Amino acid sequence: MFHKVVIMGGGVLGSQIGLMCAYTGHDVTFWLRSEGSIGRTKPKLDGYAKAMIASLEQAKGLIGNPMGARLYPQGLIDVWDGVTAEKIDGLIALAQRNLASNVHIALDMADALADADIVFEAMTEDPAAKTDLYRRMAPLMPAKTILCTNSSTLLPSQFAEATGRPGRFLAMHFANRIWVFNTAEIMGHAGTDPDVYRQVVEFAKDINMVPIEVHKEQPGYVLNSILVPFLLAAEGLWANDVADPETIDLTWRRATGAPFGPFQILDDVGLDTAYAIGRMQPGADDPTTTMGRISARLKEKIDKGETRVTAGKGFYDHSAR
Ligand SMILES: NC(=O)c1ccc[n+]([C@@H]2O[C@H](COP(=O)([O-])OP(=O)(O)OC[C@H]3O[C@@H](n4cnc5c(N)ncnc54)[C@H](O)[C@@H]3O)[C@@H](O)[C@H]2O)c1
Repeated sequence: MFHKVVIMGGGVLGSQIGLMCAYTGHDVTFWLRSEGSIGRTKPKLDGYAKAMIASLEQAKGLIGNPMGARLYPQGLIDVWDGVTAEKIDGLIALAQRNLASNVHIALDMADALADADIVFEAMTEDPAAKTDLYRRMAPLMPAKTILCTNSSTLLPSQFAEATGRPGRFLAMHFANRIWVFNTAEIMGHAGTDPDVYRQVVEFAKDINMVPIEVHKEQPGYVLNSILVPFLLAAEGLWANDVADPETIDLTWRRATGAPFGPFQILDDVGLDTAYAIGRMQPGADDPTTTMGRISARLKEKIDKGETRVTAGKGFYDHSAR
């Protein structure tokens, strides 16, 4: 249905969204703002492409394992029942081909956006910078382009006017490691054209996502309405020295059967993202509050470069990966 996909921003999520679109046969252009961004984005794209292919390799080892149906990379393999090593080898070959040939990088915004069918804005969670970007993009997109934001915490109505195309603007929100956790929460604002909404639901299926239809604007969609308070509760236990991250994670995993604890999730999400979300909470600047202590403790780790799995260290040491 859509052919040309444009991703604005080549960070954690932008890279993953673009690669997932490339894997499923779409032509993907990343718009980046500078040569420096290219230097930062290329290794990320290589790293995530390798991780996707490694997930497929590992999936072969899950064939015949009763846990396989729970652990396989659902964005990369459509049906697990009856899957064979030969089928997965075919998908690995497809990934190697598509991830190499369908991905382009552009610094010129007009070139990047020319003829775009669908655009994903996946830049830093900064409302003023996002508004500025939308205003610069507005005259450069053809009339047909549908524009989606991947913002985790901001509402599409906040930016609808700045996009210059409120009817063709909505949110499509992905989870980190989208080739495994393949949900796409789709949320319009009051002015989103219902037909555009339906087209985006269909596109989500085209890129192997499970569309989660959110019927009205809700800060945090479905997932983060649950996840953010959960992570903040865990961070509060750590920042108030009630228990250490390993113990908190162990408690959550053992008592609920969940595969990951909150600090393992935070290492994946990125401590800088968690910090930015925390800064929006009341009390973030007050060191006598739990939120203030969380902010200060996260900042200490970020200043040391302990930000996420791909940085080699977050709450856990990932340097051996
Ligand atoms: N990290 C997650 O787990 C996650 C999950 C779902 C959604 N999101 C959302 O995705 C978006 C991006 O998050 P991320 O984690 O990928 O961030 P990131 O920090 O990894 O990447 C941000 C990207 O934006 C670019 N950027 C920053 N300022 C810019 C500017 N002024 N102009 C142009 N580009 C600029 C950076 O160069 C980088 O490529 C945010 O809206 C976030 O809420 C993040």
